[in-house]
Amino acid sequence: MDKKTVSKIRLFLDGLILRMEENKPFFSDITVVYKSGTKDFTALITYEGDDTVLDYQAVRKKVEKAELCDIICNEALKYDDVNISYNERGARIVINHERGKVSLKHEDNTGNKLQQSVVKVGREYVVNPAIAKDLLSEIGILAKNGKIKNDKIRKYNQIDYFVELMQGVLKEIGERDEYVILDCACGKSYLSFVLNFYLRDVLKKKCSFIGVDYSDVVIDASRRIAKNLNYNNMEFVKADLREYVPPKKVDAVISLHACDVATDMALALGIRTGAKAIVSVPCCHKDILRQYSYEPFSAITKHGILKARLADTLTDGLRAAYLESVGYKVSMIEYISPLETPKNIMIRAVYKGKANEESKRQYEALKRMLNVNPAIERFLDGTDKTALKSLVKDWDNFGID
Ligand SMILES: C[S@@+](CC[C@H](N)C(=O)[O-])C[C@H]1O[C@@H](n2cnc3c(N)ncnc32)[C@H](O)[C@@H]1O
Repeated sequence: MDKKTVSKIRLFLDGLILRMEENKPFFSDITVVYKSGTKDFTALITYEGDDTVLDYQAVRKKVEKAELCDIICNEALKYDDVNISYNERGARIVINHERGKVSLKHEDNTGNKLQQSVVKVGREYVVNPAIAKDLLSEIGILAKNGKIKNDKIRKYNQIDYFVELMQGVLKEIGERDEYVILDCACGKSYLSFVLNFYLRDVLKKKCSFIGVDYSDVVIDASRRIAKNLNYNNMEFVKADLREYVPPKKVDAVISLHACDVATDMALALGIRTGAKAIVSVPCCHKDILRQYSYEPFSAITKHGILKARLADTLTDGLRAAYLESVGYKVSMIEYISPLETPKNIMIRAVYKGKANEESKRQYEALKRMLNVNPAIERFLDGTDKTALKSLVKDWDNFGID
C-alpha cells in the first residue's frame, strides 16, 4: 500500500482510537488483518485493565494509545491490503482496503440484519488532517477528538485548496535552494502554517516564511504558535503593508482575504520586491466601487447591488491588467466553490520578465473609461500618501530579474 492510501486509512483509524477510549465500557477489540497475496496476518488490540495491549506475530505487548495509529499504519505499508474491524457492544466499524479503494462501513452487530453505510471519501486533502494533526490542533483547526471543528471546515478547505494550487505556481517559478514566502495580511497565519508544513515536512523543501499584519494580537498569536511547533523558519512582523520592507528577496507573495485595498498593497508589495509569484485571494472590493462611473451602464449601475457586483469584477480585472502590464502572466480562477465562500477568486501571477505594452494600453483605456485611479497603482507610484515609499531606498537590492 502506498503512503497516500495509508494516510486515508489513518484518518479513519484516528477516529476509531478516540472512540475506543470514549466507549471503553463497551469496547471489545480492534482486529487488524493484513493481507499479502493469499496470506493473512492478524493483529489484535484489546484492553487489559487500563493498558492497551497488542497481540501481533506471537508477541503480546503493552502499547501507548497515542502510538497505536502509527504502529498499525506503518505496518500496513508493508502489505497489499488491510481490513480493520473495530468491535464494541452493538456496533462494528470496518475500514477496508482492497484493490486500491478504502471504505468505511458501519455495521449493526446486535444480530439484526446488517445495516451498512459506506462513507465515500470526497476530495482528498493535500494536507491530510491526520498527518498534520499536531499542527492543525495547535492552530485551532482540529478539535480534541481529532476532527476538524465544524466552524473551521470551510476555512480549512480554502487553505488546503490554496496550498494545492501553490504547487503549480512554485513549479512554474522553478526550483529554489530556499523558497522565501511573504504572507501579506497574514492574520493568524493559518495559510502560512499549512503551506510551511506542506513544503517543509511533506515535500522536504527548504523554505522560510514572513507573515506581516498590523494587528498585535494576530502577530503575537502567530509567533506563539510557531514557537510551540518549533518552526524557526517562520517569522512574524507587525507592520503596515504600505511601509513594510522585507529583509531579504522574496520568491512568492501570498495573501488570503486581505481586506479591500490591503489586497492591492499585497500585489504592490509583490511587484516592488520583484516576487516571481504573487498569489492572492481578494476579500471585499470597495475602492473601485467608490470611484467608478460609466454612463452606458447607468441602467445597470442605478441598482446598488449590480453596481457593487460589477465593481468586484472591474477591481480584479484592473488588478490583472496592471500585473500583466508590468510583466506578469496572470490567471484568474474560481479556486473554490462559492458555497465555501463567495470570496473565491484567486489571482495567480507569475513574473515573465517583459512589460506588456498591450496590457498597459488596455489598462489605461479602462481607467479613463471608468474614471478611476486604482489602489494598486496608487501604492506603487506614491500618490497614496502612505504608499510604499520606504521600499524605494532598497529597490536596487531586489530588482526584478
Ligand atoms: C480578513 S483578515 C485575513 C487574515 C488571514 N489572511 C486569513 O485568511 O485568515 C485580514 C487581515 O488583514 C490585516 N490588514 C488589513 N490592512 C492591513 C495593512 N495595511 N497592513 C497589514 N495588515 C493589514 C488585518 O489586520 C487582518 O488580520
